[in-house]
Amino acid sequence: MANILDAFKEDHTKKAEVDVNKKVRIGIIGTGWIADAHANAFKQMPDLELVAASDLIPGKAAAFIKKHGFENVKTDYKNHLEMINDDSLALDAVSVCTYNCQHAVCTIDALNKGLHVLLEKPMCVTLEEAVEICRAEKKSGKILSIGFQPRFDENMKMVKKICQSGILGKIYYIQTGGGRRRGIPTPFGTTFIEKETGGIGALGDIGCYSLDMVLNAIGYPKPLTVTGYKSDFFGKDPNYYPGHPEYAEKFGVDDFAAGFVRLEGDIILDFRIAWAMNLDTPGDTIIMGTKGGLRIPSTECWNGSIGGPMTIYHEVSGQQVQTQIPVLNTPVNCFQTKVRSFLDACKGLCSSPVPSSEIIYNQAILSGIAKSAELGHEIEIEIPEI
Ligand SMILES: NC(=O)c1ccc[n+]([C@@H]2O[C@H](COP(=O)([O-])OP(=O)(O)OC[C@H]3O[C@@H](n4cnc5c(N)ncnc54)[C@H](O)[C@@H]3O)[C@@H](O)[C@H]2O)c1
Repeated sequence: MANILDAFKEDHTKKAEVDVNKKVRIGIIGTGWIADAHANAFKQMPDLELVAASDLIPGKAAAFIKKHGFENVKTDYKNHLEMINDDSLALDAVSVCTYNCQHAVCTIDALNKGLHVLLEKPMCVTLEEAVEICRAEKKSGKILSIGFQPRFDENMKMVKKICQSGILGKIYYIQTGGGRRRGIPTPFGTTFIEKETGGIGALGDIGCYSLDMVLNAIGYPKPLTVTGYKSDFFGKDPNYYPGHPEYAEKFGVDDFAAGFVRLEGDIILDFRIAWAMNLDTPGDTIIMGTKGGLRIPSTECWNGSIGGPMTIYHEVSGQQVQTQIPVLNTPVNCFQTKVRSFLDACKGLCSSPVPSSEIIYNQAILSGIAKSAELGHEIEIEIPEI
């Protein structure tokens, strides 16, 4: 068995050198919770200069910059557009850290202005928005990377290595998803649960991670058809929110969603995701192939991390065996790697680390599930020419 595991080993001791002569000048759009993770990663990048931050809420960006102790950062903007149109900043790039419904407009405006964009997940709310983002990206020739930091986690990379190694044979069926028993994200207000800000609920918020884990592992085949379901039984219940029954009125998205998706290459994807449910887990992720199967224990799936050792079920010399892959605890800071790889792409050292050409399929599935659920029947996924 040792040989099988050796095949997936990687050297983590090498560190790339960073050229600090050219600094990437960056601005943050939206200074809420996730912007903290961006700011903390920025502090570790010797070739990055944070020069501006903007938020719709007056004073929020200034307080954010003060809290982080950055100096010489302009914050006096009413919205993202004022910031990216401030030519005195000589911006190279922006981080889009707004709630989902503002992802598309901020990204498109920044790309149209000739800026590179690190866009938080999910890519956006609808497939139509994703198509417009891709068109703006293509026209601009700039880098767009979408913020799926779990991709840089060693365990996530292992899932991909296993699928790509051929040990599973032809992959034909995947079950994925996850969720929480009680975990509608309202600790900092209602931007995740309102239709006008969040746009989509559990489906987009944590569903996008589960989809990326398996689709990235198998090379992002194109989605063809989808049957979707979504519900909001917990989100619409005032008793769910002790002290804040009014949140139930505001709840305008899904708290549970499921989908049955046909992918190119005769692969079936069976998916379900929950912010809240009367269950501990809706099941492990399983990837079934003609030569082997992979089980990835479920988690609450807040960011795609795995819940325990993975197991490969396969045959050796006609014997049915299991190979356990221990959880890898290599100290990789995924947020830092997400920013580092984006900067490297901005500097022309590599292509976009999480490209829209892949994530548009992720968005097409999310959007397809929502649309099919609303129509009450299966739909074909049609992605127009970019
Ligand atoms: N990668 C991760 O691990 C991770 C974790 C949490 C959230 N997220 C994603 O990050 C995004 C933001 O989440 P959050 O928790 O920080 O939300 P949040 O609501 O706390 O913050 C968003 C901020 O963006 C501001 N904003 C909206 N539109 C703007 C505009 N046009 N110009 C300037 N500011 C604008 C809002 O005023 C708000 O302050 C979401 O899409 C979420 O899915 C990613």
